[in-house]
Amino acid sequence: MAYFEWAGDMEIDQGPIDADHRRLVDQVNELHDATSQGRGQEIVGRLLGELVRDTVEHIRREERYLESIGFPETAQHREGHERFVASLQQLQGQYDAGHITVAAQLSALLRDWLSLHIRRSDKAIKTFLQRRERGQARR
Ligand SMILES: [Fe+2]
Ligand SMILES: [Fe+2]
Repeated sequence: MAYFEWAGDMEIDQGPIDADHRRLVDQVNELHDATSQGRGQEIVGRLLGELVRDTVEHIRREERYLESIGFPETAQHREGHERFVASLQQLQGQYDAGHITVAAQLSALLRDWLSLHIRRSDKAIKTFLQRRERGQARR
């Protein structure tokens, strides 16, 4: 069983959002494997940097998408993202400063946050899209 298992209840749009989320899940697993196998700092540092970068990119993409569809709780959703990005960058700063054990904490933080955030907050996007589709079908 993978460290971070993708599950059907994490599906949002069967499109670009899911593709981003799945990729992040894979990357969290890669980082976890690298830290638990005691891989070199060069590999761990690279994976960690890519994961933080791709998470922030996903978040920005998702926010632009929310704005484009007129999602009603975009501001609130963005606040949740902001808080997470702040803790992510704080931990990455610690890692860069030489606290290498932070890499393991980061894979746990990313797994726990993504798993909850997708199932709770991003799920509202799915509900919104479904309602919109039903509304359009009625017209
Ligand atoms: Fe989100
Ligand atoms: Fe997301």
